[in-house]
Amino acid sequence: MSASPFSLKPAPDRLDVRRERVRLRPFEERDLDAMAAYRGDAEVCRYLPFDPQTADDIRRRNGALMGRTTLEGENGGVMLAVERLDDDVVIGDLVLFHLDPAAGSAEIGWVMSPAASGRGLATEAVRALVDTAFEVYGLRRLVARIDPDNARSVALAERLGMRREAHFVEEDWFKGRWSDLLVYAVLAREWDAPAG
Ligand SMILES: CC(C)(COP(=O)(O)OP(=O)(O)OC[C@H]1O[C@@H](n2cnc3c(N)ncnc32)[C@H](O)[C@@H]1OP(=O)(O)O)[C@@H](O)C(=O)NCCC(=O)NCCS
Repeated sequence: MSASPFSLKPAPDRLDVRRERVRLRPFEERDLDAMAAYRGDAEVCRYLPFDPQTADDIRRRNGALMGRTTLEGENGGVMLAVERLDDDVVIGDLVLFHLDPAAGSAEIGWVMSPAASGRGLATEAVRALVDTAFEVYGLRRLVARIDPDNARSVALAERLGMRREAHFVEEDWFKGRWSDLLVYAVLAREWDAPAG
C-alpha cells in the first residue's frame, strides 16, 4: 500500500477569522461564563454528547484546547469562540477535531446560543470554519455527524451545501433512546467550486 499523498499545512501561530457579523478565535478562560450561559441550557445540549455544563465543566472537559491552533496530537483539535462583532459577545463555539492525517479529513461541530438564533449567524460562523479548515489547515474533507431529529443542525448542514452521505439507523444509545445518525460531508474542491 502506498503512503497517502496528503500533507497538512503547519498550524498557524494565531487564528482570527473575521466575517461580516462574526469573528472566530481560539476560546480562552475569559469566555467560559459566556459559553456556560448557552451550554448550561438543557435544550441546547439535547443532541450534544454532554449534559448542561457550568464554566468549571467546560474548563475540565475542554481546557486543553484553550488557545490552541493545532489539530494534531492526542485529543487534538481546535475550539473556536464565535464573537458577535456588534457587541463582542461570545454567542457560540465551534470545533474542528478528529483529524485523520492520512485522509486529510476532520470533523466539524457547532453550538450556538439560542439568544442569537435565527439570523444566519451560525451559518456565517460555520461557513468561516469550513473556509479555515480548507484554506488555513489545507484539509481536503470535512464531516459533520448529526442526529436527524436535530432539525436546526440538519438545516444548517444543508444550507451550507454539505452532502448527506449516510443515514445510520439506531446507530447508538444516546440520552435514553436508540438514535439515528446522519453523516454530512464536503470536499475542499466542492467548496471552492463556483455555485451553479
Ligand atoms: C444548530 C444551530 C447552530 C443552528 O442555529 P440557527 O439559529 O438555526 O442557525 P443560523 O444562525 O444560521 O440561523 C438560521 C435561520 O436564520 C435565517 N437567516 C436570516 N438571515 C440569514 C442569513 N444571512 N444566512 C442564513 N440564514 C439566515 C435562516 O433562514 C434560518 O431561519 P429559520 O430559523 O426560520 O429556518 C443551533 O440550533 C444550535 O446551536 N443547536 C444546539 C447545539 C447542537 O445541536 N449542535 C449540533 C450538534 S450536531
